[in-house]
Amino acid sequence: MTSLDLHAVHKHYGPVHVLDGIGLSVAAGSRTAIVGPSGSGKTTLLRIIAGFEAPDAGRVTLGGQLLADGPSAVPAHKRGIGFVPQEGALFPHLTIADNVGFGLARNTPQRAERIAELMDMVALSRAMLARRPHELSGGQQQRVALARALAQRPRLMLLDEPFSALDTGLRASTRKAVATLLGNAGITTILVTHDQSEALSFADQVAVMREGRLVQAGPPAELYLRPSDVTTASFLGESIVLPAQLAGGWADCALGRIAVNDRQRGGAAQIMLRPEQLQVVQVPASSAHGTDASGCYGAVTDTDFGGSVCVLSVRLLRGSAAAVVAGADDLAEAAPLLVRTSALQVPPVGAMVRISVAGDAHVFSA
Ligand SMILES: Nc1ncnc2c1ncn2[C@@H]1O[C@H](COP(=O)(O)OP(=O)(O)OP(=O)(O)O)[C@@H](O)[C@H]1O
Ligand SMILES: [Mg+2]
Repeated sequence: MTSLDLHAVHKHYGPVHVLDGIGLSVAAGSRTAIVGPSGSGKTTLLRIIAGFEAPDAGRVTLGGQLLADGPSAVPAHKRGIGFVPQEGALFPHLTIADNVGFGLARNTPQRAERIAELMDMVALSRAMLARRPHELSGGQQQRVALARALAQRPRLMLLDEPFSALDTGLRASTRKAVATLLGNAGITTILVTHDQSEALSFADQVAVMREGRLVQAGPPAELYLRPSDVTTASFLGESIVLPAQLAGGWADCALGRIAVNDRQRGGAAQIMLRPEQLQVVQVPASSAHGTDASGCYGAVTDTDFGGSVCVLSVRLLRGSAAAVVAGADDLAEAAPLLVRTSALQVPPVGAMVRISVAGDAHVFSA
C-alpha cells in the first residue's frame, strides 16, 4: 500500500495560475475525494499526479519515491498509477477485450481469463467483450475504462468523475462496489467528483479546491459540520448562515439562543446550521410569540411537497432574541427560512410553527 504526498505544487497555462501551491497527503490504502467548482484545477492536479503533465514547481512523492520535482518527472508509464479520465477515453476501433487488455502484454499468462475477471470486477457481462465502445452505454464505457485501469494492478488509482454517466441508483451501487473493490485490493484512491454527497460517502478524506488552491481537507464529517468558510459550507450541502452574538458557548440569533461549537469566541460572528438540525412542529397561533429560550416561531408561507423530504418556507416572527442581532431584521423581512420536514406532517400555508435546533451551530473563524 502506497501513500501519496503533494508539496507546494504549482502549474501555469500561459498567464493562468491553474494550481497555486497545492499540498495534500493521502494515506496508504485510503480514499480521498477532491471536490471543487468547474475549472478549479481538479483534472490538472490528477494529470500531474499521473505524470501526463509536469508541475512548474513542487514535488509529487508516491510511497517514498519522488515522481516529480518541478519539471523533472518520472514518465507516466513508469509510475504504476491507474487513471480513469473524465471522458472515459476508450479506443473506439478496439474491442472491449482489447481496451481492457490494452496495457497487458500479449504474452501475459492467462491473458483472456484475466480480462474476463476484470469484467466481472466491474460488473459487466463477459458477453460484451467482443463489442466496440460505441455499442455500450456511457455508464458501461466508464466501467470498461475502470477495468482497463485496474488491469495494471496500480499502486494508486485516480478516478476523474468516473460515475457521472450513471443514473442515480446505479451510481450509488457502482460507487459502493468500486470502493469495496479498491479497498479489498488495498489500492490508494483519489476520486474527483462534482457530487458532494458522493464525495462525503466515498472518501476517508475530502479535499475542497477553489481557484487552484486547496481550501480545506479533512474527514467528511468534519468538513460538513465544521467548514472553514461560507463558500465551502454551501459547496458541501445546504446551509443556514446567520449573524449572531456569541458568549460562553451560546449564540443569540434569529432562531433564539442556540449552542455553538466554539466556547471561546465572543461578540459578533457568523454561524451555520445544516437544515437537518432544524425541527419544526405546528403550534396554535395563540402560543406563537417571537423567540423563547430554545426556539423560535414563524408562519408558513409556502410548502414544497418533494416526497421523502418536504420543504417549508417559514417567515420568522420578530422577537426579543432576533432584535439583538445585527441583520436579523433583514432575515425576518427578506428571505424566508427553508426548513425540511417529513411528508407525514406538512403544516399548511398560514400555519404557525415552532422551530427548534438540534446539536451545535458551527462558528465560522473569519
Ligand atoms: N492544456 C491546457 N491549456 C490551457 N489551459 C488549460 C489546459 N488544461 C486546463 N486548462 C485550464 O485550467 C483550468 C483548470 O482546468 P481543469 O481541467 O483542471 O479544471 P477542473 O477542476 O477539472 O474542471 P471540471 O470540473 O470542469 O472538470 C481551467 O481554467 C482550464 O481552462
Ligand atoms: Mg475536470
